Parts: sequence; C-alpha cells; structure tokens
Amino acid sequence: MLTQLWDLKLPLIQAPMAGVQGSALTIAVSNAGGLGSLPCALLSREELVQELETIRNQTDKPFNVNFFCHTLPVEDPLKNQAWQSALSPYYKEYNVDFSTNKIPTKRRSFDEESIEILEHYKPAVVSFHFGLPSSELLVRVRKWGARIISSATTVAEAVYLEEKGVDAIIAQGLEAGGHRGHFLSDDLTQQAGTFALLPQIVQAVNCPIIAAGGIADKQGVLAALNLGASAVQVGTAYLLCPEVKANALHRAAIKSARSKHTAIANVFTGRPARSIVNKLIRELGPLRADMPPFPLASTALVPLRAAAEQRACDDFTPLWCGQNASGCKEISASELTHLLCEGIRVG
Ligand SMILES: Cc1cc2nc3c(=O)[nH]c(=O)nc-3n(C[C@H](O)[C@H](O)[C@H](O)COP(=O)(O)O)c2cc1C
Repeated sequence: MLTQLWDLKLPLIQAPMAGVQGSALTIAVSNAGGLGSLPCALLSREELVQELETIRNQTDKPFNVNFFCHTLPVEDPLKNQAWQSALSPYYKEYNVDFSTNKIPTKRRSFDEESIEILEHYKPAVVSFHFGLPSSELLVRVRKWGARIISSATTVAEAVYLEEKGVDAIIAQGLEAGGHRGHFLSDDLTQQAGTFALLPQIVQAVNCPIIAAGGIADKQGVLAALNLGASAVQVGTAYLLCPEVKANALHRAAIKSARSKHTAIANVFTGRPARSIVNKLIRELGPLRADMPPFPLASTALVPLRAAAEQRACDDFTPLWCGQNASGCKEISASELTHLLCEGIRVG
C-alpha cells in the first residue's frame, strides 16, 4: 500500500490544481493525513520559494509538488493569426485591443531552476503532468529521495512510465477535470474512463496505481481501491473548499446545474482540458484543429477573459471541472479529506 510506503494516514492525494490553489490547500490535506499537492506550473521562481517556505512552516507531513513538462513551443504566426481572427468579434464586443494587451503566458515547464529551488526543500513526492522531464533532471530529483509520479491516460503511457522507473502512476480517466495528461498520443479516442482504464493499467504494470477522475465520495474511493488502486487522486471535489482560490465566477458555475455539462476543450490553452461548457467552448470549440500550441493559445484570451470577468461574465474563463461535481462541498479541506476516506482502513 502506498500509505505505508509514503508515510500517509489516508490513501488520498489531493490533485494539484494550477491556477485555483496554493499552499493553503496543500497544508490542510497533508495535515489531515492525505498527501497535499502544490501545483507549480503557474508560479514564478519567487512565488515557488514563498509557497515552499509557507508549507515548511505549517506542516512536517509529506507533500507533493507538481510540474508540467511540456516542450516549450515555437510561435507559429499563421496559427496565432487564425486564432486571433476567430476571437476578433469578441475583441470588438469587449472593446479589447489585443495588440496593446499582449501578456505572455506564464505556464512553465520543469527545468534546472525548479530543481535548484526544490533541492533546498526536499519535497517527499514530485509529480509530473504531460509525461516526464529528461533522465538527467530525474536523477537529480531522486538525489534527495523524492518519489516520482506521473499521469497516464492509456495503458501504453503507463507501461512507458514504468519503464522509466517512476514510483507510482496516476491512471487519469476521461472524467477528470483540468488538462489531460497524455504525452504519447493526442488522440483522445484512445483514452478511457477511470473505471475502464484503472484495472487495465493495474494488470499491465507492477508499480502502485493512483486512480484519478470522477472520484468524489468514499464509495468512489472504495471502488477504486477494490479495482486495484493503491490510492486515489481527487481534484474537483475540493473546488468549493475555503482553502481553494477559485474565483467567484468559477465557484458559482460549480455550484450551479451547469457543472453537469463539461467538455474536453483545447480552446483555452491549446491542450485538451475538461471545463464546464461556456460561450467560448460552445461557439469556438470544444476542439479546434488550428490552435496555437500549448500554452501559447491562452495569450490571446487573457485580455478578453479580464474584460469579461470585469462584467461578471465567465464566457472566456477556463471553468476547469471534472464530470462529477457532486462531491463539491463548502467545508474545510480537512473535513472533506476525512469524509472521502471515512471508514476506509488501509493495511
Ligand atoms: C481545477 C483543476 C486544475 C488542475 N490542474 C492540474 C495541474 O496543475 N497539474 C496536474 O497534474 N493536474 C491538474 N489537474 C488534473 C488533476 O491532477 C486530476 O487528474 C483530476 O483533478 C482528477 O479528476 P477529478 O477532477 O474528477 O477529481 C487539474 C484538475 C482541476 C479540476
């Protein structure tokens, strides 16, 4: 069991959720006996140091730091142009001049600089999304004894990750909120739901498997453990906790009946990710072939999103959310963690 191996009381990892949470959620879940996660993809160097300091001061329990490891793309002027033309009616509607409003996207990839910071704090677990960084970087992560995990969306990705020597694999089902973690193929038709993917990955590899996607209550946790998972990773269910920084529009959408309609869309960042359906997805998505590569597509949306949000409108806001928002509760992350694992005994 992962709990014994990783010194956890509960077989639960709080999913890292870039853009909507910082150290407060990490600390609350780790102190409650699960594994709290800090998403680092949107943090500057200074913000990362600050968050790690805060965690170190408020918990002595294990925690996870999470990074994206995409290849930094080259700008494609034709794709940028096509995307800006598609958005131009909305620029007009909101009186946005994109040419004077260009704010480069902050999404960063795991690199030497990240390691130099982490070496000082020695987090117990480092997780990756979109595959793995280079073997040279992984060797350095292992030097302070960190466990390494990454997401697989297919059996082939799980086999690849095991061959690379990861300590555990997250089986990310199609229900999951946020970005798909795929890295071998971007063909979404190859991906399956959690309870179809999980047992097939369990059969194919020997390392511990963490089930993710659509798990929102203790019955879901139990079902995943019964299907061979060593732990679960839960994201969406935490989105209404007070420790989460999701903005008022995102929270309102999650609380509303709209959360029952999500879609995997690439129109926010250039990579497929599950969000509650809004105007951008309905009118330009969900999946477009001519998008600028991740994460560059988001640059053209930033000023539009800001202008719409000023009018309390979520038409261009990424409303990341999984297919099962039924477990979202406005209770503390510690309470929710205990509810998710209530009565679950781990050996
Ligand atoms: C708001 C949100 C943001 C996310 N951001 C990240 C991230 O930064 N890194 C990551 O590895 N996964 C991210 N994910 C995906 C989660 O790791 C996980 O696969 C998913 O939350 C599990 O499904 P669930 O949302 O149905 O619980 C995010 C998910 C959500 C809902």
